[in-house]
Amino acid sequence: MATQRQLRLGTILHGASGNMSAWRHPNAQPDASINLDFVKSVAKKAEQGKLDFLFVADGLYINEKSIPHFLNRFEPITLLSTLASVTTHLGLVGTLSTSYSDPFTVARQFASLDHLSAGRAGWNVVTSPLEGSAKNFSRQQHPEHALRYRIADEFLTVTKGLWDSWEEDAFIRNQQSGEFFDPDKLHTLNHHGDFFQVQGPLNIGRTPQARPIIFQAGASEDGKKLAARHADAIFTHHPTPQEAQQFYQDVKHQLVANGRRPEDLHIFQGVSVIVGDDAEDVERQYQTTAALVSIEDALNYLGRFFEHHDFSQYPLDAPFPELGQLGQNSFRSTTDEIKRKAREHNHSLRQAALEAATPRPLFHGTPEQVADGLQHWFEIGAADGFIINGGTPDTFPRFVDRVVPILQARGLSRSEYPGTTLRASLGLATPANQFSAQ
Ligand SMILES: Cc1cc2nc3c(=O)[nH]c(=O)nc-3n(C[C@H](O)[C@H](O)[C@H](O)COP(=O)(O)O)c2cc1C
Repeated sequence: MATQRQLRLGTILHGASGNMSAWRHPNAQPDASINLDFVKSVAKKAEQGKLDFLFVADGLYINEKSIPHFLNRFEPITLLSTLASVTTHLGLVGTLSTSYSDPFTVARQFASLDHLSAGRAGWNVVTSPLEGSAKNFSRQQHPEHALRYRIADEFLTVTKGLWDSWEEDAFIRNQQSGEFFDPDKLHTLNHHGDFFQVQGPLNIGRTPQARPIIFQAGASEDGKKLAARHADAIFTHHPTPQEAQQFYQDVKHQLVANGRRPEDLHIFQGVSVIVGDDAEDVERQYQTTAALVSIEDALNYLGRFFEHHDFSQYPLDAPFPELGQLGQNSFRSTTDEIKRKAREHNHSLRQAALEAATPRPLFHGTPEQVADGLQHWFEIGAADGFIINGGTPDTFPRFVDRVVPILQARGLSRSEYPGTTLRASLGLATPANQFSAQ
């Protein structure tokens, strides 16, 4: 069957995968977040399934209540640089904060990763939701939500400008004439803005993808606006196809309002998956992982989204507590959703905490049922693709072995990579150099 539009697929590293206590699962790799062999095996499996990319999330603050795999994990760029040498086609997407970094350093790091991987680098731009991050970066205060997004916007303008420092053919390296580069193809940014003063140029040449692929994770109004202006992809999460469709349409409209085409940005829904032989097998798999999470774990998990709020102070079986503005300066879109859901379903704190910490995977069932679910969301315009988070430690290999072939047979997923870069995999246009395009 001829393929119309490709359903895009990535996978996210999430410790032992599954829920926060998945490291205790009998099939888990308990030290997964710091085990290079494990990470390599996930990357190779992803490449075997011809997935578009591997995604590494990150954070900048922990305390003793953090999710276990956040306590001891690799820094994304360092990890992806290593993975670049053991993979050949897989996109390598790493999270880095615009609130606690400098554009010059970030532009260099991702440009280096793009060169090292021959065009497979992606940057997941986040504004850092955790207030405690300020304490690790010599700051008095965590910038508030709107300010973080203003900084992020200027940050992206600067990094994009720095990535245009050199034209593609700037380095002549003519050993006879002694010309190392063509000065007409070197561009100095000279940026003077509200938050950054950056002269440039960047000390690394134009990258194989012209510039790394930009992901954005953050679903508030400001988050969507940032994505519509700058991003090539969005990582988001919606519990129902209707909400996902609404988000999808909103972002695509904003894209057009910014003079861009709907196909210039892919929307990825992050989804949990369980693949089983039949309904009974799926339920058994779900119950086995869900049972690993204690109510104390679940309260801690919930608390992290709300600035590490201590939920143990409330009665467990009373209605979900009134939290006022709590969460607005942290994971705003996520905390809004948790509060809304608890209100709508009249959940107790216990129910809301377990719902957050051990959600029943959105896509669960036999391989055909999982493929049907993904196809449905894709076809109704709820997503351009998915970032797969295994609902149990052995889900991801099973997803690649049993669900991907069905998607391939239906013409929704590729059987071969179309090129060697992440840009080629995602079918994204190559941006012109803003200086030479004039
Ligand atoms: C699906 C999703 C994934 C995210 N991943 C990360 C991450 O890996 N690291 C991080 O620091 N923040 C992450 N964030 C947080 C955002 O960057 C942002 O700081 C926070 O969500 C508040 O923005 P929002 O209200 O626009 O969602 C994520 C947010 C969403 C919605």
